Formats: sequence, C-alpha cells, structure tokens
Amino acid sequence: MIQKLKIENRVIGFRKFDINEIRKDFPILSREVNGKPLVYFDNAATTQKPNVVIDSIGHYYRYENANIHRGLHFLSEVATEQYENSRLKVKEFINSMSASEIIFTKGTTDGINLLANTMWRANMLNEGDEIIISHMEHHANIVPWQLLGDRKKIVLKVIPINDDGEIIMDEYKKLISSKTKLVSIVHTSNTLGTINPIKEIIDIAHDNKIPVLIDAAQAVSHQKVDVQELDCDFLVFSGHKLFGPTGIGVLYGKAELLNKLPPYQGGGDMIRTVTFEETTFEDIPNKFEAGTPNIVGSIGLGVAIKYLNMFNFNDIAEYENELLQYATNKILEINGIRIIGTAKNKASVISFTVDGIHPYDIGTIIDTDGIAIRTGHHCTQPIMKRYNVPATARASFAFYNTKEEVDVFIKALHKVIKMFS
Ligand code: ALA
Repeated sequence: MIQKLKIENRVIGFRKFDINEIRKDFPILSREVNGKPLVYFDNAATTQKPNVVIDSIGHYYRYENANIHRGLHFLSEVATEQYENSRLKVKEFINSMSASEIIFTKGTTDGINLLANTMWRANMLNEGDEIIISHMEHHANIVPWQLLGDRKKIVLKVIPINDDGEIIMDEYKKLISSKTKLVSIVHTSNTLGTINPIKEIIDIAHDNKIPVLIDAAQAVSHQKVDVQELDCDFLVFSGHKLFGPTGIGVLYGKAELLNKLPPYQGGGDMIRTVTFEETTFEDIPNKFEAGTPNIVGSIGLGVAIKYLNMFNFNDIAEYENELLQYATNKILEINGIRIIGTAKNKASVISFTVDGIHPYDIGTIIDTDGIAIRTGHHCTQPIMKRYNVPATARASFAFYNTKEEVDVFIKALHKVIKMFS
C-alpha cells in the first residue's frame, strides 16, 4: 500500500517567519555535540536537512523505489513521475523557460566539468581561447578549465578583487578581448561572502557576445535566482547547499546552447538507438543523464525546494542579513580579529583570522563547545594567497541560526583567545 507523503501540496501565502518553528523542522539542530547544544555555523559547506526532505528519502525507498524511464510497471511510473516532478520544481525555482533546460548532475563541480568537457568537443572552446574567471573562484571553477587547458591550451584570465573582496569591474572590462569565449563567475563567494554584481557582469559579457556561466552554489539558499531575469547562459548549483541531499545538483543551460553540446557520458537512458556501428542520442535533458541517475537525490531536492517555497525569500534574506550584522559587530569588538571579506553586498559568511592563533586551533577548540565552523582554505587557495593568510576560520549562517547561537560562538572565541594569551 502506497502511503502518500504528508507534504502540503499547495502553498497559500507565505509561511510566517517564526524561528522557533523553523528550527523544529531541522531535527539535527536539537542534538548535542560534546555535551553542548549543537551550534551549526558551517552552512557554506553543507546545509542541514528539514524533516520533509529526510522523510521523503525514507518514503521513496520504503514505498516507491524503482528505476525510472524504463519500466511500464506501476512503481517505475511512480518513480519516473517523482523524478520529473522534481525537474519541474527546479524549473520553477530558477524560472527557466523549459524543464528540458534542467540537467540533474552530481553537484556544482560535476556541472562545471560537464561544460568544460563538452564545450571544447563542440568547438565552443578552442586552442588559444580565453576564459574569464575571478580571483574569488572556488577550485571547482578553476581546475576543470585547467584540465581542459592541458589539452587545448585554454588561457584563464583572472579578474582581480579589491581589499574588501569585491570584483574590480574596470579590470573585468579590460580583460575582455576577441579571444574571450566564456565568462565563468561565482555569484556569491563561499569564502568572502561577496555577492557579485552578476547582472552587470552578464550584460557586459553579452554586449561582447560572450556566454556566461554562473556558479550559484552559495547563492540559491540566500536569495531568489531567476535565470531569465539574469539572462545567464549556464548556471550550476548543488542540492546539499539548498537543504537537499548530497550527490545531486543542477546544470541549467539555455536550450539552444545545450542542444549544441555533445553528450558528456555515454550509457543507458541517453540514447535513442544503438548499433555496434552507430549510436543516436536523446534530446536534452536526457542526453546528459547517462545511466541510472540519483533518483532519490532529485526527489529530495524537489522536496527541499517545495519546503523553501513556503517562505518569502525576502524574509530569509532580511533575517540572515540581521544575523550577519549582529555577528560582524560582535566579532569586531574582539581585539586581534581580522575579517577577510568586507564587501558592501555580502551573504551571511564571515571568514576571519585571529592574531597569533591558527584557524585550526580555533576550530578544534570551539568544537569542544559543540560549535561547528569550517577552517582551512575553503577550496579557494588563491584567495588565501591574495590576503596573505594560510587559512581562515569561517562561520556561515543559514536562516535557522539565531543570535543566541552567535552569542555562544563569541563567548567561545573569547575563551580561545584567553587560552593563548
Ligand atoms: N565549497 C564548500 C565550502 O565552502 C565545500 O565549504
């Protein structure tokens, strides 16, 4: 007997932004770590999951598990419908023109690798071509292009950033040349928190007939991202940073561009006909989804989006901004602390160093108080070099965090500093 998931089917108006009620949706937030209530400030690395997402995974495996697009039997049809419904939810979430422009991937990194591998095979990137990225890119938007460069001698042109961690737009304009074949840029920096002027960057590229890829991994959980409004050509993000499961992500591409790209991987479900001599391929999106995909991951992502859709994104952004300001002011009261990333337009991420104390020590010591932050280079080694630091400590907030948690974190920082003084 199939049990129907108890997830609201329709949202009439937005849910009230009640932090106590929201926290109840995320079971992990009420656990203890090292005998203390968990304070989870590592949301830029991965977000926690609400009950509805967790339940949808169990429900799928208990009652609906089957392979998709393959069987005529009942369960296969149910699984296929769920999978394709999730694609529709993603389509609506980022407002793409069509669901066929939504490719399910393993995550942001996978999406960029897909593009790097297929664009050169489609001759959209050739020997000597240039790709513009910025100094604040995550390794996922650097290394795939370098691997491609090994074969094709692609040149990466890097837009410098100022001391606040903002892109220097005049330098961006200067980098554009007839050799530029792609601008690939992060929407919101995972290390600095900077929210880039994405629309302006895209418009400048388009004035020069250059396509633009947006890495929206850190953006989609903090603000509304509308691909038609932005007019970006490609956009990637990960499910696990959007309160969904790990191992699932999205590549959005304009249909006319995706249609020009060859398949990334070969296998089942992406073909139309196969003989030993020749194979013909499915249309998008199936062309890029070889083999059995992460069915339950995509379903979980769809449920996460449905959950988020209950809220007004402006409420989320306003609340997170308040948290960011509160935490920033408290941190700045501490002697010897330097915040790396002070852009005017910032998401709720604070990277910092403390004089004379290694970030690893900070992270390890405050973990004993149940506080989870990330320490290290955050997969952005060029940023560490830019600011001449080996690593930073990073606190990143989601809309389920509270000022009380910030107070616990600040108290723990004072404790660390006292230990080293
Ligand atoms: N890119 C992820 C982070 O910023 C893993 O932590």
